[in-house]
Amino acid sequence: MPKPIIIDCDPGHDDAIALLLAFAHPELVNVLAVTIVAGNQTLEKTVNNALKVLSFAGVQCEVAGGYDRPLMRPLEIADAVHGESGLDGPDLPAPTFAASEKHGVQVIIDAIRGSREKVTIVPTGPLTNVAAALIGAPDIKKNIERIVLMGGAAREGNWTPAAEFNILVDPEAASVVFQSGVPITMIGLDVTHEAQVMAAEVDYLLNSGHRVGVMVGELLEFFGEFHETMGFAGMPLHDPLAMATVLDPTIVETRHLPVTIETQGQYTTGRTVVDFYGVTGKEPNVDVALKVDRDRFVQMVIDAVLSYDK
Ligand code: RIB
Ligand code: CA
Repeated sequence: MPKPIIIDCDPGHDDAIALLLAFAHPELVNVLAVTIVAGNQTLEKTVNNALKVLSFAGVQCEVAGGYDRPLMRPLEIADAVHGESGLDGPDLPAPTFAASEKHGVQVIIDAIRGSREKVTIVPTGPLTNVAAALIGAPDIKKNIERIVLMGGAAREGNWTPAAEFNILVDPEAASVVFQSGVPITMIGLDVTHEAQVMAAEVDYLLNSGHRVGVMVGELLEFFGEFHETMGFAGMPLHDPLAMATVLDPTIVETRHLPVTIETQGQYTTGRTVVDFYGVTGKEPNVDVALKVDRDRFVQMVIDAVLSYDK
């Protein structure tokens, strides 16, 4: 029986690939809705990007825009990474379907309330929408199986030395989610920086003669430009790893640890403070991914991308 899931994302190159990975496996996941948040780019652009990628892949589902800014801070975007459109690289045609009129947060609430099975939420952007749903409708907690999120890190940062982008953009929302009591798997930079796709694998996609494969190769080529300036050998597939973990939890190894979100630090705001040695006395609240089977994961992504109609 496929797991009911909701993907909350900010496409974004890696978000786009995470969407393609999900819809390539209808035998494993039933995507109830794709909700969109501002993050990598403004909400208008991230909504449009989600519609364009899904349309290109021949997928139609409920896509709904949520918050266009963090709960309590101005929006910070990642145009240096994802470009002016938020999905620079491939020249994608206009979408073939429109976004829902409903607000993304209401879509999350209604989908969870209406599901007979507990729902897994897969956030791959800032946690604004998910936090707002938990605040506005705390009753949904009992029908959430798990939140498998891309965000944070036990040991590093990528937007500041201390913080990962998704958490940093809306640390107050992240704090609400991490304190919610809902089971959480944190797919952070500790594993996504190990889960890099390399140039030879990108070239394989570019030369595949496969429409979606070539498009993903073009996404990765652009995504690689920023990461090359950061000294990466390849391109970290952040969001697809969160999705892969939903499809096959054995792709990562986790430890159940206490994690708190820093919202006040002068240099450390947005830090996911992971207590490896129990020095805070806090109860563990998060399954923190610390190891990844990189080769099996990248093959999973390539196979999924090439499984779409040529
Ligand atoms: O830090 C990486 C995360 O920030 C990814 O989700 C990427 O899409 C950006 O949103
Ligand atoms: Ca993202």
